[in-house]
Amino acid sequence: MWRVLDLHCHLLAAVDDGPADPASALALLVGLRQQGVVSAVATPHLLSPRFAPDGLEAMIAEAWPRLQDQAASIGLHVFLGAENHCSGQLDPETFATAAHPLGDGPCVLVELPDDHLPARAWASCFALVRSGRRPVLAHPERCRGLRGDDEGLAAFVASGGLLQITAGHVAGIHGWAMRWRSRRLLARFPQACVLASDAHDLRARRPAWDRLPAKFRRWICPDLPSLARWQGGA
Ligand SMILES: [Fe+2]
Repeated sequence: MWRVLDLHCHLLAAVDDGPADPASALALLVGLRQQGVVSAVATPHLLSPRFAPDGLEAMIAEAWPRLQDQAASIGLHVFLGAENHCSGQLDPETFATAAHPLGDGPCVLVELPDDHLPARAWASCFALVRSGRRPVLAHPERCRGLRGDDEGLAAFVASGGLLQITAGHVAGIHGWAMRWRSRRLLARFPQACVLASDAHDLRARRPAWDRLPAKFRRWICPDLPSLARWQGGA
């Protein structure tokens, strides 16, 4: 068994499209622990037009202490982070100020829309870099706007940015196209890639650490401090 940091998962009960209730959240934590995850970052959707209920912060504040207790009961270390949606609506500097980091480290998980690349997406990432933080692009293999934009990705990586590739995509549980795209990014940008589950439940969007072929384990980051200085699987 290897040590796994899962830096992107939806664990907070009744907050977004993750677990519906505390019992489901505990089941997901147990599933992660059984697959070798020793620390996980809860990454509720933030700045997202799709997940913007009134009182989001209060919902997170209510769910977070309970999640910590549940995780402690099974020997899992949890951190609070966010999946910061970059729609391009915000000025890049405003986005960089509003985005929440993973735990209290310098890394910031940034989600792009699935269907296009917003005009200010790269500027928003570079605004994060200028503010001393390290952007981590969530599942770039899913973003249609990034296909054919290896130049943009190369510039992002050169600035210190990381690419979070979803383990289930690499394993092939979401189809051949996603399997191909995720593996292509690992081959093209090995020094910048890191794996995460983006788990939401134990069904369709389950963690797939147990399905990951051994040759891809070098892209598993062991803990959150290591992520700040991650050199990928190079
Ligand atoms: Fe996510």
